[in-house]
Amino acid sequence: MELIHSVEKMQTRAHELKRAGKSIALVPTMGAFHEGHLSLMREGRKSADVLLVSLFVNPAQFGQDEDFERYPRTLEHDRQLAKEIGVDIIFAPHDEDMYPSGYKTYVTVESMSRNLCGISRPTHFRGVTTIVLKLLNIAQPDVAFFGWKDAQQFLILKKMVEDLNLPVKMAGLPIVREPDGLAMSSRNRYLNPEERKDALSLYKALQVVESLIEKGEDNCETLKNKMKKIITGEPTARIDYIEIVSMTTLEPITRIEKGNTLIALAVYTGATRLIDNIRV
Ligand code: PAJ
Repeated sequence: MELIHSVEKMQTRAHELKRAGKSIALVPTMGAFHEGHLSLMREGRKSADVLLVSLFVNPAQFGQDEDFERYPRTLEHDRQLAKEIGVDIIFAPHDEDMYPSGYKTYVTVESMSRNLCGISRPTHFRGVTTIVLKLLNIAQPDVAFFGWKDAQQFLILKKMVEDLNLPVKMAGLPIVREPDGLAMSSRNRYLNPEERKDALSLYKALQVVESLIEKGEDNCETLKNKMKKIITGEPTARIDYIEIVSMTTLEPITRIEKGNTLIALAVYTGATRLIDNIRV
């Protein structure tokens, strides 16, 4: 397995591979690998000649008071896990190589970046789209893998690829959960035992509304109130948002539209912000 830090070297390597007729699968990550990341890599392994995983804690997607400094950085452990899966190249650039002094260019997917997580994290998605566009340009993948765990992120990135005519297939994979249902996240390690217990309320709330929808309930206000009640019942939980939106626009809807509805929530348990969602 190769470890490449330099952007220039990665670009040269990608060109060589393309010239040799190899297909490339890219899995963009910020490291601190868990089963969610590994599921994307396993799928990537099957889908192309060369499996490239990028590992970069992207400063541009963290707000001023967010956890950029304390975000877990576990490169040695990550390398080991990636090697076991059969990753060919890890691309782990340095901040100053991705954003040299005088860096000025950002790409934004309008409106979709402003609701849901975009309300409490107004500059987040601009950072995500910018870094992913840079990674796609550097690595030239045929296919890139993302998790539905970050549903808004995936839908925004797909829109960017469509709008900018980028020649890459965007693949979304299901949320990988802990045995009790909590969606895996690099941030779960911040939770103390009480918060970890309360964190389960996100999944519980989603399960309850899913079964209500199966029974025929389609009023979004009723469903959101049900979720609110479940979350506020937990002592360390504080709701950031609970929303039911169209998957095409990410705008709130009033009635469930089967096949095009995203039910998403963000909840603080203690100081840690967790997200989860289902699609119906
Ligand atoms: P990161 O949080 O490291 O996640 C990398 C990829 O793993 C994302 O596509 C995310 O949706 C997916 N993922 C995380 N937890 C998952 C889970 N429990 N089940 C399935 N997939 C999961 O998302 C980012 O990094 C960054 O924003 C990035 C796209 C790399 C841009 O910096």
